Amino acid sequence: MKQINVGLLGIGTVGGGTFNVLKRNQEEISRRAGYSIKITKVADRDIARAKEITAGAAEVTDDAFSVVSDPTIDVVVELIGGYTLAKDLVLKAIENGKHVVTANKALIALHGNEIFAAAQKKNVIVAYEAAVAGGIPIIKALREGLAANKVEWIAGIINGTTNFILTEMREKGLAFADVLGEAQRLGYAEADPTFDVEGIDAAHKLTIMSAIGFGIPMQFDKAYTEGITKLTAKDIRYAEELGYRVKLLGITKRTEDGVELRVHPTLIPEKRLIANVNGAMNAVVVKGDAVGPTLYYGAGAGAEPTASAVIADLVDVARMHNASVDQRVPYLAFQPEQIKPLAI
Ligand code: HSE
Repeated sequence: MKQINVGLLGIGTVGGGTFNVLKRNQEEISRRAGYSIKITKVADRDIARAKEITAGAAEVTDDAFSVVSDPTIDVVVELIGGYTLAKDLVLKAIENGKHVVTANKALIALHGNEIFAAAQKKNVIVAYEAAVAGGIPIIKALREGLAANKVEWIAGIINGTTNFILTEMREKGLAFADVLGEAQRLGYAEADPTFDVEGIDAAHKLTIMSAIGFGIPMQFDKAYTEGITKLTAKDIRYAEELGYRVKLLGITKRTEDGVELRVHPTLIPEKRLIANVNGAMNAVVVKGDAVGPTLYYGAGAGAEPTASAVIADLVDVARMHNASVDQRVPYLAFQPEQIKPLAI
């Protein structure tokens, strides 16, 4: 069986999960991909950690640029996060003709338009399933499963950290600050947890879903963003007494004027399915004109759920890397140069 060589940038929580799941489920993954997918090179600032996880199975370096320039690497998996170094590395990988898989929602939401245009020029794939809602295949659903539909709206709980915090506040009556540390310990929170609790991470993910669902460019700067830091345990208790749950929702919908993008705490009647999504779980509802509302539920954060999405992208890339562009699944629902942005 032919082999696809993967260069992994970052072997932290998700990188470690990706390495372990690829190893554990090697047989199933190869059967589905038609290729043996192997991480042959790993770049991480923490060489000792990288060596411990890979246990001699991959070459380890602290020079990420050497990985994106390595002629033996077919696909670069970017899991370092942030959008400065990550952007340079991804653009360099594309320039070198490598396909890219990333879980980096900030990078795609802020620089996706530029990255997709560069990828199109070089005829390479940029896949980003893990960037939204962890292990839930929501990008695939929007791009492929709902291809027949005009998407009317998308709404969801798309940040595991804040959903975990709100759940703990409701169930245990704890204050916001008391629960954040626990979410960090469990590996759900971003390196800068402000991104989670101020709704920025959810707005990144919403921007991406909106672009795919409505065929518009990434327009993160147009999103209204409000987090959960001002909520108290009392607010949550009063809402409950009135029959509601408080959830941080991301909502995007077509309106007569264009597309609306907003993230804010929302009161949801307690009988609704989405009101009962607890802990770090995520749920997204997509309303299509043909199918009606559809619901996607699963783990939105954490090592192996996110690794599940990263590897699904690797399987897709393996299957499609030899196909011509028009035979590939479109990684965007639009061609970058044909975008006609709607007013937001
Ligand atoms: N910090 C993110 C969350 C991680 O809590 O959902 C997954 O994107």
